[in-house]
Amino acid sequence: AIEQPPGPLNDTSAKLVNDPTHPWIAAKPTDIRGPCPGLNTLASHGWLPRNGIATPAQIVNAVQEGFNMGNDLAVFVTYAAMLVDGNLITNLLSIGGKTTLTGPDPPSPAIVGGLNTHAVFEGKAIPPPDDAFFGDNHSFNETLFDEFIAFSNRLGAGNYNFTVAAEFRWQRIQESIANNPNYSFVSPRYYTAYAESVFPIAFFVDGRKADGQLDLITARGFFQDSTFPTGFFRSGISTGFNEVGAGIAQVFIPHPFAPGRNQGVGNYVPDPNSANFSQFCKLYTDFVQQTVVGLYPSPTGALLTALKANLGFLHGPLGSNCPEVFPYGQ
Ligand code: HEM
Repeated sequence: AIEQPPGPLNDTSAKLVNDPTHPWIAAKPTDIRGPCPGLNTLASHGWLPRNGIATPAQIVNAVQEGFNMGNDLAVFVTYAAMLVDGNLITNLLSIGGKTTLTGPDPPSPAIVGGLNTHAVFEGKAIPPPDDAFFGDNHSFNETLFDEFIAFSNRLGAGNYNFTVAAEFRWQRIQESIANNPNYSFVSPRYYTAYAESVFPIAFFVDGRKADGQLDLITARGFFQDSTFPTGFFRSGISTGFNEVGAGIAQVFIPHPFAPGRNQGVGNYVPDPNSANFSQFCKLYTDFVQQTVVGLYPSPTGALLTALKANLGFLHGPLGSNCPEVFPYGQ
């Protein structure tokens, strides 16, 4: 049977999530961790299976319970990841590298590589070495974190906040244009990069403090050690599409910047075919018709059934805002 996505939380208040039933335990060598500090932390506290292999419903529940992510955003991001990086037949996703723990793979070109697979989320084969704190996208990168610290000290009085986020994102982009001949910054990566600038402010600040200022000790705990601070309360604000959109605007508006890619170092060429922030439905449509269909050009049987179901779940949060597309028929 196909597992339905969970609905929203009933109680969205700030509450203790580093509680006695969710202690931090260091990941064992066999436990999988990946590029996302949010999911890594949930796994290291047992809000997700500690081995780092989860169903999409487990991920939606965990990001809602542990961080108060809004249901629309949680469902959309989770099923997008599931469709490109997960095993649709076994309904399992690795939050890090590729593993046999998700079961036998469907036929190539499907990758089922887990969240470490930079390639598909970006719609591009070449990983941008810039925007993660992770040079290889899954191990902690002290050099990049030092830059995050320097920006936070210089512009945020020792905290990461929206002012810092806007300038740091802009600096990452400029640095990539100047150094990476293959720099590509198009949808969906364009969206996720800005969203990831907002997430630490929305989710890593204690819900009792709720002042939009993330101190650097707390930040390091999440990014480096996958840990909640002692006694951490999740946010009392559900951050869904509207809230993350408002946050992205705060990061974007100081330095508006079009999607595009480098054609040689220092030569950034905008790409009018990539969705931008005024075209959210195009993000969805291109993701389905290009990225998903690219991985699954001619599915049959149980794979086809699972694809259709997961595509339906992906569209769910968009409702009547964006017409649903059916690449494999209805
Ligand atoms: C980065 C997936 C929820 C915070 C990432 C990346 C992936 C990912 C694939 C890496 C992007 C890259 O390659 O650069 C997901 C999925 C989620 C989820 C599927 C399910 C809802 C969350 C939550 C938080 C969060 C709830 C915060 C509590 C972040 C941050 C980054 C990130 C801050 C950027 C890390 C960096 O710049 O080094 N996420 N994420 N994510 N995620 Fe998540």
